[in-house]
Amino acid sequence: MNIIKLEETESTNLYAKSHINDFGDRTVIITKAQTGGRGRLNRKWIDLGDGNLFFSLILKPSAAFKSVYSNITQYASVVLCKILENYSLNAKIKWPNDVMIDGERKISGILCETVMEGKELKGIVLGIGVNLFASIENLSNVPDRVVTALNIETGLKIEPQDFLNSFLENFFGNYEEFLCVGFSYIKNDYIKRNCFLDKDISVQVLNDVKTGYVKNLTEDGALILENSKEELVLTIGDIL
Ligand code: BTN
Repeated sequence: MNIIKLEETESTNLYAKSHINDFGDRTVIITKAQTGGRGRLNRKWIDLGDGNLFFSLILKPSAAFKSVYSNITQYASVVLCKILENYSLNAKIKWPNDVMIDGERKISGILCETVMEGKELKGIVLGIGVNLFASIENLSNVPDRVVTALNIETGLKIEPQDFLNSFLENFFGNYEEFLCVGFSYIKNDYIKRNCFLDKDISVQVLNDVKTGYVKNLTEDGALILENSKEELVLTIGDIL
């Protein structure tokens, strides 16, 4: 595995995307500091200071895009939960891929982007931030979100490189099989860690808010939302 270590960069996802042709499959870009970390839906990913994990994994599984690649974030969220469970934490997934402690406090976020050139997939950039080390004061600088960090939840200081090693070992342990089988390979693992099934929720979908009861997930990882008027199958959105 090729690991590129940076002292500081704007965003490891931006770095990976702009160097996509320079690096091969399974290259990791890790940085000690991010000045412009990015999240889903144009949000920011705030750098909580030294000791936190920011990395992007470049994947080049094939030259053509396959629908299973859209589920890589869900696969990664299960991997992250399993690692956090090793610290006796109750890690849950908020659809599609936020990792929350007790379903309430966000500890990790995933931003997956694809680089296409015409119909050719140049690479997938799986960017992950994990709050490993923060003070309560630093956490209060994160706007609009209830966030936490591993040291606050466990009293332990885990080094970013150690957490990354666990992630890579677990991620690649079943990666090939997951790509062959698809979301159904992780569906049970994913569902048992969810914090949204059998609940009434509202989901921001682009400029619209959809409300309903979450019955199930499809075999492709989409959310089935039912209300008195309709049954919706959502592939994107943000649970409010
Ligand atoms: C989210 O919660 O919306 C996703 C956050 C993803 C943050 C990580 S940190 C490493 C990588 N580089 C970025 O700019 N973003 C991702």
